[in-house]
Amino acid sequence: MYDFFNIKDKVIVITGGTGVLGTSMVEYLAAHGAKVAVLARNKEKGDALIEKVKSEGGEAMFLQTDVTDEAVLKQNAKDIVDKYGKIDVLINGAGGNMPGATIGPNNTIFDLKSDDFRKVVDLNLMGTVIPSIVFAEYMVKAKKGNIVNISSASALRPLTRVAGYGAAKAAVTNFTKYMAGELATKFGEDFRVNALCPGFFITEQNRTLLTNADGSYTDRGNTIIAHTPFRRFGDPEDLLGTLHYLVSDASKFVTGTVAIVDGGFDAFSI
Ligand SMILES: NC(=O)c1ccc[n+]([C@@H]2O[C@H](COP(=O)([O-])OP(=O)(O)OC[C@H]3O[C@@H](n4cnc5c(N)ncnc54)[C@H](O)[C@@H]3O)[C@@H](O)[C@H]2O)c1
Repeated sequence: MYDFFNIKDKVIVITGGTGVLGTSMVEYLAAHGAKVAVLARNKEKGDALIEKVKSEGGEAMFLQTDVTDEAVLKQNAKDIVDKYGKIDVLINGAGGNMPGATIGPNNTIFDLKSDDFRKVVDLNLMGTVIPSIVFAEYMVKAKKGNIVNISSASALRPLTRVAGYGAAKAAVTNFTKYMAGELATKFGEDFRVNALCPGFFITEQNRTLLTNADGSYTDRGNTIIAHTPFRRFGDPEDLLGTLHYLVSDASKFVTGTVAIVDGGFDAFSI
């Protein structure tokens, strides 16, 4: 019978794998038998995560990276293939907002610092484009590959304040579709590129934007909840089923799509 969701022994690379959402993805994928290559900046966090995965019977390796640095990524890809022999899936998870690229409540667009805007575009957009190209080269040699990018609710309709982040994530969605067409038309249907689009999840980067010190929601936090039919923020585990679908053969005729996981935020008006 069909075994579409089987990801045992798939080699899955995840950038930003030590982050809040990344960590839960790494643990989940390893628990389902994937060999996970965790790429992130912080070696201490990375080593601790690998130790935890291994103590639970999973297989994972950590490599320090900078997703905007092509030379480092090329070395990462070589090290992964040396150890695991192939690369089946790339999850471009590294990304995030930067305070300088946002417009504060008492500011206007004229206060925007273009250098900070550029930095956030560099991390989120180029930090997806460069790894995609570096790892796709190995996938093309292997005649099979699958890339999952991480977009954001801010890409679908601009959110107030996060000007740079929203622009960068919108470009990630566009690049997802571009790359899906590029790889499939030139190399065949064994190449797929999709995006996972999380709604609002409380993580270290947005905690102070969404919650007060006593745990209650800020005005912005309350506004988001009021616009979310499920009336709650996401838990990292809410993403895992959709991620599993995208990295597995269950989605083998699916490419260039954006899978929204947001408790209904995007579908809801008043
Ligand atoms: N938290 C949310 O609500 C939310 C919503 C939508 C999308 N996202 C996206 O999901 C992804 C994960 O977000 P998170 O909330 O877990 O954030 P996080 O800050 O916890 O994790 C981000 C990870 O990216 C890594 N990283 C940052 N810059 C890097 C660089 N130059 N090179 C390599 N690694 C780098 C960090 O080390 C960290 O591991 C991001 O792309 C984020 O934009 C998050």
